[in-house]
Amino acid sequence: MNYRHAFHAGNFADVVKHVVLLCLLKRLIEKPKPLCYLETHAGRGVYDLEDERARRTREADNGIRRVAASATEAGPVQDYMRIVRGINKTGELTVYPGSPAIAAAALRPEDRLRLCERHPEEVEILARHFRADRRVSVSPADGYAALGGLLPPTPRRGCALIDPPYESADEVDRVLDAVALGLRRWPTGIFALWYPIKERRDAIAFRRRLAKLGVSVAVLEFCVTPDDNPARLNGSGMAIVSPPWGLETRMRLARDQLSEILCRRRPARAEVVIIAADKQDRDRSSRTSPRRPVRARGHSRP
Ligand SMILES: C[S@@+](CC[C@H](N)C(=O)[O-])C[C@H]1O[C@@H](n2cnc3c(N)ncnc32)[C@H](O)[C@@H]1O
Repeated sequence: MNYRHAFHAGNFADVVKHVVLLCLLKRLIEKPKPLCYLETHAGRGVYDLEDERARRTREADNGIRRVAASATEAGPVQDYMRIVRGINKTGELTVYPGSPAIAAAALRPEDRLRLCERHPEEVEILARHFRADRRVSVSPADGYAALGGLLPPTPRRGCALIDPPYESADEVDRVLDAVALGLRRWPTGIFALWYPIKERRDAIAFRRRLAKLGVSVAVLEFCVTPDDNPARLNGSGMAIVSPPWGLETRMRLARDQLSEILCRRRPARAEVVIIAADKQDRDRSSRTSPRRPVRARGHSRP
């Protein structure tokens, strides 16, 4: 449990992840029915950009600070910036909202948030941040182990974000196993998965395994540098498993807006890919979860 998100909060990958997450949530709240938002790896919820860890890496300079300095037309990035500005009451950009804070700001009084986080310090900050929000419950738990017990949630509509640190070699297996289990327990659920991109072949392998889930998946892969260097985080992906109708269009708009802001020239690669449902594979994967060897990554998150 070495990974601490405070070193990376607000970097380009966080921006892409949170813009896509917000696109998904906004699409879901178009319907009046209440929903449940789950997170297996919630982090601390809010991050101090003046913190010593954030200052050391300065990763937010190429992420949220760049977005805040740009003029954005109406669309996904403007929606996201409204939430970022809302949490920075003084007008200065000193606080970065993590995914739980983005979700809490987007969701309605009738919706529910179930957040899991394993690191004791992160849990304490997360629970403190949401102590007055009756919609939110925080579990100091291993998100993978807790997920099965949380599904199907009440209300039954909704989505789950799986955003682990990718510290261990088997993290990709664990993510895909969690989604396969999630789809069995909660067939109407939507699952959002974040994954790092260092080399293109890893991203292709990950997408192939997503295809074996047997449901459709919408993916935004966004690389700020060429995805051919295993020594650095070149990009990231957000995969939305069982995406709601219309999300793809918002993801394309997000891609275009983010490309202009996050990359001085053109992004190394920014694409929205739709992986079609393969029903045969779903039948197979409901018996055994897809598993293929993956190369060890070590601490592959930034
Ligand atoms: C990438 S961060 C989460 C960031 C957060 N989702 C956001 O976007 O603001 C990953 C988090 O997972 C936590 N973590 C690591 N292993 C875990 C596990 N098995 N269960 C729950 N949390 C875990 C880490 O402490 C870290 O806070």
